[in-house]
Amino acid sequence: MIDLSELKPFASGSNRHCYQHPDDPALCLKVLRPENIEARYQRQAWPKKALGKARIDDNRQELRAYRQHAISKLLTEDRGSLVWAHLPRFHGAVQTSLGAANVSELITGSNGSPAETLEHYLQRQGFDLPAQNAVERFCDWLRQTGILTRNLLPHNLVIAERNGQPELFLVDGLGAPAIPDKLAAILAWRRRYISRRIKRFYLRIDWETGNRNESWETSQKL
Ligand SMILES: Nc1ncnc2c1ncn2[C@@H]1O[C@H](COP(=O)(O)OP(=O)(O)OP(=O)(O)O)[C@@H](O)[C@H]1O
Ligand SMILES: [Mg+2]
Repeated sequence: MIDLSELKPFASGSNRHCYQHPDDPALCLKVLRPENIEARYQRQAWPKKALGKARIDDNRQELRAYRQHAISKLLTEDRGSLVWAHLPRFHGAVQTSLGAANVSELITGSNGSPAETLEHYLQRQGFDLPAQNAVERFCDWLRQTGILTRNLLPHNLVIAERNGQPELFLVDGLGAPAIPDKLAAILAWRRRYISRRIKRFYLRIDWETGNRNESWETSQKL
């Protein structure tokens, strides 16, 4: 078992803490924040509560997301380099002193520390040309691979230099948990789903780089 008790997370989302693996600095360990899972569970109406807490376990959903049709197919065709062009390599789950952790490649910047999120980059630099080109390459990759994601949020993407240019990596929000596998296997359906996610991604970038007069919920409906 991996002991995380003496370590500090290098970053945290609202649902998980991220640690650098104590024995392998190239790996990221993500453990659930139990207090947030409990709060999300309690906020649900009783019919959903009856389905249990596993539904809202982000680590379990991520394990399933990495097994999705498009990824499994590319991996069996030996096209891993395409899969991992914009996704951290994934190594399944391990036990830690803070419960089960998902293990993935730690995406690092040129100085070796964890890469900057797109959210932070946009705040610092705005949606400049290098970022526009990186977003375009990422969206082309989604269309090319047919990999399904949830809504694409700038804080769930990190930006790191690869072959002399900035590239985006989706570190959270992979998969489409509400979509039945049979539907997800239909190519035409996947294309439509992905183009919607891409459209919303650009709207979200506009919103994050604009003056945010409206809430995100309102601005999407305009
Ligand atoms: N593989 C990775 N490489 C580098 N940084 C990462 C990686 N995974 C996560 N991070 C950093 O940790 C932060 C939190 O991780 P993550 O988004 O997985 O947590 P979460 O709690 O599931 O997020 P959310 O609040 O969106 O549900 C990310 O925004 C990113 O800054
Ligand atoms: Mg996140």
